[in-house]
Amino acid sequence: FQLKLLVGKRVLITAGPTFERIDAVRGITNSSSGKMGYAIARAAWESGADVVLISGETALATPLGCRRIDVQSAEQMLQAVDAEVDEADIFISVAAVSDYYVLNPSEQKIKKDAHILTLELGPNPDILANITARDNPPFCVGFAAESENLLEYAEAKRRRKKLPLLAANLVQNAMGADDNEIILLDDDGETRLTRAPKLDVARRLIAHIARLYQKR
Ligand code: C5P
Repeated sequence: FQLKLLVGKRVLITAGPTFERIDAVRGITNSSSGKMGYAIARAAWESGADVVLISGETALATPLGCRRIDVQSAEQMLQAVDAEVDEADIFISVAAVSDYYVLNPSEQKIKKDAHILTLELGPNPDILANITARDNPPFCVGFAAESENLLEYAEAKRRRKKLPLLAANLVQNAMGADDNEIILLDDDGETRLTRAPKLDVARRLIAHIARLYQKR
């Protein structure tokens, strides 16, 4: 038995790592597996939502019922989100977006020699903050992966990015793992989602989002 809490709602989700190209064969990425975002996409679909999943490169199969759009870089992810977000009632930003991109990626493979090689990096746009800064944003949910001072950093991030809900987890608990535990921060305070398989945590997160969305 499952409550169809989001019937008719359109949910946009970003998931996975971004990949910032250095040259023809190399790039900068991170250790996000995409598992949490994909689990949330599946849980949203189970609850009756129409789900669009914008995904960096992962080894995962498209969750049942979801429309998936593949991207590589943060810039491509931003453009995909821009193109889809007007249709969304709820935007859940789970992707681990690179903070920087390579300013002058090389078309050809860079050859090695004895010299020091310097990469120049420019800051990437903050996709989520771009959306929450709009006039009529969808209900936005952010993620914060921290390695220390979890609650303090996460609450600061929630305020800075103007988020009604932020899901905070420890990098060492979350990234690449099959289980996760999350602390939800919203205007009413903290809610702890205890350690469990990511799909289980995702279902509890979707139930929480549906409650907040209904009383917003
Ligand atoms: O600032 P930080 O990267 O820790 O914030 C994490 C949250 O912001 C996540 O929800 C992530 O998906 C989102 N984010 C984003 N674009 C960025 C950086 C983070 O959408 N460039």
